[in-house]
Amino acid sequence: MNDTNTANTPEMPGTSDIRRVRKGDLDHVIDLDARVTGQAKPDYWRDIFERYATRRLDERFFLIAQSGDQTGDHPILGYIVGEVRGWEFGSEPCGWIFAFSVEPDTRQQGVGEHLFQAMSAAFKSAGIGTMRTMVARQNQLHMAFFRSEGMVAGPYIQLEMEIDD
Ligand SMILES: CC(C)(COP(=O)(O)OP(=O)(O)OC[C@H]1O[C@@H](n2cnc3c(N)ncnc32)[C@H](O)[C@@H]1OP(=O)(O)O)[C@@H](O)C(=O)NCCC(=O)NCCS
Repeated sequence: MNDTNTANTPEMPGTSDIRRVRKGDLDHVIDLDARVTGQAKPDYWRDIFERYATRRLDERFFLIAQSGDQTGDHPILGYIVGEVRGWEFGSEPCGWIFAFSVEPDTRQQGVGEHLFQAMSAAFKSAGIGTMRTMVARQNQLHMAFFRSEGMVAGPYIQLEMEIDD
């Protein structure tokens, strides 16, 4: 990104901008994730903040959509976290999105799309031409969203097995 604090995206209704996360946002991110997933993970998010918001910022992007109303219940409308990963699984460096959520009250108003576009622009400015994420096959919302943004099935498949005791 050209600026370390802002992402170059169009203005969106009800929000002032998309920008990099700040320490003061962390409790709101933890709260949003807890309400959406039903599980509070403060230690996980503090670790994510340390790893993705304080170091190697040219290839790690932890962005938030900030509400235009900073005095309301939800000053954060959503977040997205991604990073450039290189040479894993024999892959050329590409951008991975691995955390993404929008405030339930403000969904289907374009906030997710703006966060996605901001991440895409950030990866592009890092010299990256491909971005990836992983979704559960049966999750129609995730499929609908990422497909609507232009994502399609990639060249890799996930393999897994249970490890016996
Ligand atoms: C997935 C998510 C981030 C989308 O955010 P959003 O702000 O509602 O998305 P947008 O308003 O930008 O929608 C963009 C497009 O996605 C698709 N989409 C979004 N929500 C949809 C829904 N409920 N049903 C069908 N399509 C949907 C539509 O094509 C939409 O374009 P349109 O408005 O022109 O029809 C949001 O629903 C969310 O936070 N879900 C819970 C957390 C989660 O699942 N995170 C993602 C994986 S980690």
